Amino acid sequence: MATEQRVPIFEMRHIYKMYGDLCANNDVNIHLNQGEILAIVGENGAGKSTIMKVLYGLEKPTSGEVFVRGRKVRFHNPSDAMAQGIGMVQQHFMLFESMTVAENIVFKNEITKGLFLDKKKTIETVQALSDQYMLKIDPDARIDECPVGLRQRVEILKILYQSAEIIIFDEPSAVLTPLEVESLLETMRNLCAMGKSIVLITHKLQEVMSAADRVYVMRDGKVVAERMKNETDAEELAYLMVGRHIPARHIPPQTVTRELLEVTGLSLKGENKLLLDDVSLHVGAGEIVGVAGVSGNGQSELIQCITGLRHTDGGTVRLQGKDVTNKSVREIRDAGLSHISEDRFVWGSAIDATLAENTLMGKEDDDGFSKKGFVDWNRVRQYCAELIRKFDVKASSPAQKLHEMSGGNAQKLIVAREMSMSAPLLISCEPTRGIDIGAMEFIHDQMLKKRADGGGVLLVSSELSEIMRLSDRIYVLFEGRVNGECKRGEMDDKSLGLLMLGGNKSHE
Ligand SMILES: Nc1ncnc2c1ncn2[C@@H]1O[C@H](COP(=O)(O)OP(=O)(O)OP(=O)(O)O)[C@@H](O)[C@H]1O
Ligand SMILES: [Mg+2]
Repeated sequence: MATEQRVPIFEMRHIYKMYGDLCANNDVNIHLNQGEILAIVGENGAGKSTIMKVLYGLEKPTSGEVFVRGRKVRFHNPSDAMAQGIGMVQQHFMLFESMTVAENIVFKNEITKGLFLDKKKTIETVQALSDQYMLKIDPDARIDECPVGLRQRVEILKILYQSAEIIIFDEPSAVLTPLEVESLLETMRNLCAMGKSIVLITHKLQEVMSAADRVYVMRDGKVVAERMKNETDAEELAYLMVGRHIPARHIPPQTVTRELLEVTGLSLKGENKLLLDDVSLHVGAGEIVGVAGVSGNGQSELIQCITGLRHTDGGTVRLQGKDVTNKSVREIRDAGLSHISEDRFVWGSAIDATLAENTLMGKEDDDGFSKKGFVDWNRVRQYCAELIRKFDVKASSPAQKLHEMSGGNAQKLIVAREMSMSAPLLISCEPTRGIDIGAMEFIHDQMLKKRADGGGVLLVSSELSEIMRLSDRIYVLFEGRVNGECKRGEMDDKSLGLLMLGGNKSHE
């Protein structure tokens, strides 16, 4: 019995995965024990998603062997993996918007009465499943009415409904608010207590330290270290990931010479409430200004109104003194703004286009890139190669398609494009989401360089630590209003957290 328990629930031996000449997994040996939470960390492009796609049957290994409960398996697709009890919560959820929670959970394994869906029994079953795993949902709610944290719960329940024993999470917290992250980690612990086994891919080392039992560090397609959680700390893991220590940063004070962005009394009507309510803020040349808030409190709408993606219902936006309220995206960009958008895979990128084509987006009419109305592709490719080098994007060439890159590297390219524009104001939304800690330092450096060069940055981030480290001033948004403003060093994360939840500025 004792020896039986020691057989890993899965084991991958000598896995190689080649994409053309690129070796995404290079002799990877990993295993998972029953009831364990295993974390996989590593830089963007290290091969984390690839190794789990191989396990889940989404990708075929070039060579190597996979064992599940000691038996060799060969998966051709995710259904084969699911039949062996392996489920994966994908970063982009695969739910049907117009169907209910219950319908999504039983999809393809419907409970029927004759030819029809047995609605009553479906709801009872889904409710029982939700109770059993302590994952609260409303079986009748439509998916398009559910916030992202809830959708993730539906994804987990869907996998559990299909009797998954091994659950893979690929960067599950990237889209969640801090409270939702807490509850997700709690769910993982509960699932393990009930005998499930979990793989967690993440860039957030505090999540590893809080939830994992064991961790693998990957670099350049290889596993370079394995640690028990109790024998390591976040600092060592960071060092193992990037191969160097990350120094503390000193940000010198800076004087503001002129205003770049002036937003006055901005309002935006929603269906039955104001999404933005009299929002005023300004960003000067030589400043990084943070917008903090629990996501969904008007941040996205504010940026959409400033950048021309959405029309306002009142108030003005001035850029370098010019009134750009409700002007087109193009006109606003031309008035001196670049924008790393929050959802860069919806706005501002084309995943089926090449890296070179993506670099050109928004710059089609620039003198350097077009001659007499024709795009100078040689110049574009050259420029793209420069960005790839400068921002250390892991890509084979400018001719590679964006969707062939690892998640973080695709983001780095979009960030690189926007940060390299000469526009004086940069609107930077979640610039380091999904990005590894080494690259995060680099992006932070670039924002500070823009500030030192007399540019301005409006930084929107759900990572409070990022906002607090970089911002000269911070505005806190709550329910579409500015619920407080503070200067660097004036506040700790607790008082800021309180403002984010609608409280008052404590020291006033
Ligand atoms: N479909 C594909 N075609 C070609 N190359 C690919 C493909 N998918 C991944 N790659 C490459 O394989 C390498 C590993 O990618 P992978 O997605 O596993 O990285 P990752 O560790 O998950 O990174 P991230 O933290 O950015 O998500 C990357 O260099 C990536 O460009
Ligand atoms: Mg990945």
